[in-house]
Amino acid sequence: MADMSMPMMSFEKLEKVFESSDGSHQALADINVDVRRREFVALVGASGCGKSTLIRIAAGLESASAGRVMVTGREVSSPGPDRGMVFQQFSLFPWLTVKENVMFGLSSQRHSRATCEQIASQWIGLIGLTDFTNHYPAQLSGGMQQRVAIARALAPSPKVLLMDEPFGALDPHTRARMQGYLLDIWANMDITVLFVTHDLEEAVLLADRVLVLAPNPGRVVGCVDVPVPRREDGRDRYDAVFKSTVAKIESLSSVCQGQDEPPLDLFRLARVDAASS
Ligand SMILES: Nc1ncnc2c1ncn2[C@@H]1O[C@H](COP(=O)(O)OP(=O)(O)OP(=O)(O)O)[C@@H](O)[C@H]1O
Ligand SMILES: [Mg+2]
Repeated sequence: MADMSMPMMSFEKLEKVFESSDGSHQALADINVDVRRREFVALVGASGCGKSTLIRIAAGLESASAGRVMVTGREVSSPGPDRGMVFQQFSLFPWLTVKENVMFGLSSQRHSRATCEQIASQWIGLIGLTDFTNHYPAQLSGGMQQRVAIARALAPSPKVLLMDEPFGALDPHTRARMQGYLLDIWANMDITVLFVTHDLEEAVLLADRVLVLAPNPGRVVGCVDVPVPRREDGRDRYDAVFKSTVAKIESLSSVCQGQDEPPLDLFRLARVDAASS
């Protein structure tokens, strides 16, 4: 039986330095975070604070410069079936059908082809796309494509789902539906989620806990528990505690934002516009 006291995933003194011809850039510094089994943790912070780097290291797609990431007590060194990953876009292979994309996630496992087909069909049914089994990604809407990406990530029964702005490219209506959809899946599966978003409301809507990162170097500057209960139909964005939790995260992240981002020079843009017309 799994040791319930052990974190499902832990970041231990994690550092990441990118070296380039311009010098070195510390993308992550001293990240220490434990994520409990079945916890839903959101990661927010200014552009460039290292959210994607952190999630890519957890996925095994990028190596750490120091420290480590542990999943179920084992150090991450490469991608593995214990971790599923969903990106903002370009998640699916365009040359594979819906079914082939979902089956691809199972290819690293020692299932027979018939079992893979059966698992893929179950997942495609679950995401409501049975009629699109043999369609290609280009024939699907953005929301449908992300449902397939989620099914592909979850089909191998990972312990951890790593999501990097998975709904960032969707329109608000589709995004809201996908949020409900993800919560339904999360409520019915033994899955631990690490979810990157720029949208603070989305973070509070979905997560048990929100980590706030700041850039230069990328580090955790705050950790906010979401005190609003999850109801059957999700959280109420108009609830006072919901709003004050969003405000708390906003104040934590805005303190460290924008110091070295040059303001957009709108005058200059207007001049460029005038010159080109
Ligand atoms: N492969 C790389 N080589 C060099 N620098 C990199 C590389 N990947 C990321 N960086 C730098 O590391 C920092 C963190 O990048 P990262 O993509 O993790 O930020 P982010 O928080 O995901 O940003 P965004 O919100 O815009 O997606 C940035 O300064 C970025 O330029
Ligand atoms: Mg990113």
